[in-house]
Amino acid sequence: MTDGKHEVLVIGGGVAGLVLALEVADHRRVTLLRPTSDDQGASRWAQGGIAAVLSPQDDIEAHVADTLVAGDGLCDERAVRFTVEQGPSAIEWLVSLGVPFTPDASADAGYPYHLTREGGHGARRIIHADDATGRAVVETLKQHVEAHPNIRLCGDLTAIGLIGDGEGHCRGARCLDADGRLQELAAEDTVLATGGASGLYRHTTSPQPASGEGMMMAAELGAELMNLEFQQFHPTCLYDPEGPAFLISEAVRGEGGLLINAAGERFMPAVDPRAELAPRDIVARAIDAQMQRTGTDHVYLDIRHLGEAAIRHHFPTIHAHCARRGLDIVHQPIPVVPAAHYSCGGVTTDLGGATTVPRLHAIGEVACTGLHGANRMASNSLLECLVYARSCGRRLRSAAPLPTAELAPAHWGRQPVALDDIGEIRDAMRQLMSARVAIVRTDQGLDEAARGLAQLHRRLAPRMADAAPTIALANLWHALRLARLTVACARARRESRGLHFNPDCPVHGEAMPRPSRIHLQDLEAI
Ligand code: SIN
Repeated sequence: MTDGKHEVLVIGGGVAGLVLALEVADHRRVTLLRPTSDDQGASRWAQGGIAAVLSPQDDIEAHVADTLVAGDGLCDERAVRFTVEQGPSAIEWLVSLGVPFTPDASADAGYPYHLTREGGHGARRIIHADDATGRAVVETLKQHVEAHPNIRLCGDLTAIGLIGDGEGHCRGARCLDADGRLQELAAEDTVLATGGASGLYRHTTSPQPASGEGMMMAAELGAELMNLEFQQFHPTCLYDPEGPAFLISEAVRGEGGLLINAAGERFMPAVDPRAELAPRDIVARAIDAQMQRTGTDHVYLDIRHLGEAAIRHHFPTIHAHCARRGLDIVHQPIPVVPAAHYSCGGVTTDLGGATTVPRLHAIGEVACTGLHGANRMASNSLLECLVYARSCGRRLRSAAPLPTAELAPAHWGRQPVALDDIGEIRDAMRQLMSARVAIVRTDQGLDEAARGLAQLHRRLAPRMADAAPTIALANLWHALRLARLTVACARARRESRGLHFNPDCPVHGEAMPRPSRIHLQDLEAI
């Protein structure tokens, strides 16, 4: 069934999708696909805040320099500068919408809102709403979106693929409705805001992470993907094997939290002069090394010295969650373990969110703008969502004419694929990615991952030609191919850089490092 023509179709309702909808809606009609699962997406769980130059003691050059250092030589400096320069006005806009950022009532405050610190930042520049910033931003944006007469919110449609035409343009999306029926949404312009690919791994910092669905939908239309090997592991996810995934914000270290091992010893000062506030790749690797060395499955984050009043004041959400899980963080150190958190790679875009496919845009974690390079600095992600959703939104305020080329047909059939089979292949893929393509990769491990994933691919591929579409099957098909492309990028990078650490080639390679660029058709040669 084909729906009527949509002007701007936005797929994904986290911070990036919501901001874009608001930026465009006074000029063109927007259809926003926001399945209820988006309320559990990465934006909602982002605790720490948004990095921007707001304090009179800070400056743009310092934020640019810190981002370049964290990105370990692979950032696109133009993207970094653009993002950092747009930061203060983007925050001003959020304040004007009513986001309840935490005020700073202290007598010497140079800015009306409290600014915290996180790893890699040489200054206090993270504006936040207690320790639940993502939730506060999403809730505020949602209220504005729901009130806008030109935005149609669709909660019952999930995109499983994009529609292309004979001229290579994107022309909308194929979706499944709540009853599993295929719906085609033809659109003048399509925007992916579908999140990253942490769901390729077993342990993640959010309960329902994306698994690169948007990246592969774009790749199916021929879009270039970039820097897939740089998957970030957040150093401090709560170690709680029986409980839901839960992040312990980097702001906890920013306010003085110390990492200790099972013997109660700090280990970060011996690794890096910035200690607990080194960039995430360094801290996650140091924790991983401690766990390997001592044979333990977690380390601890200790904030007891901050005192109960400060802990409850700065971290009410973390305090309450840990208390519900039987952990008193005022009197006990917090058991923590690194977990998959953020994809620095994604669909290649320019500064206005345009992909290499005409009429297809990508914003937020699904995109790779060049800002993060080989390792994203803390709280630059919500900043990127905001800045690029706004620049993309401005670009989409007027429509360019579309060609009259024929639309490509859907490739789905009627044969059901059992849920058990889907679950089994997905678990095997996640197991391989977590064991072989995580914080430390070796040549042998990557070879094993490539072979194992190719086997899983051979198991699923013959059934895809006439398979009946379901969300679970489409997501698995996207994830499995993306995992293979990720391993291909990791094998091709013959150096260690940022989040890609391979002891078989431990040093930086070229003085002028190149991003990895890959297309879906490259799978044929793997
Ligand atoms: C955190 O609060 O540590 C997560 C925020 C981020 O990933 O930037």
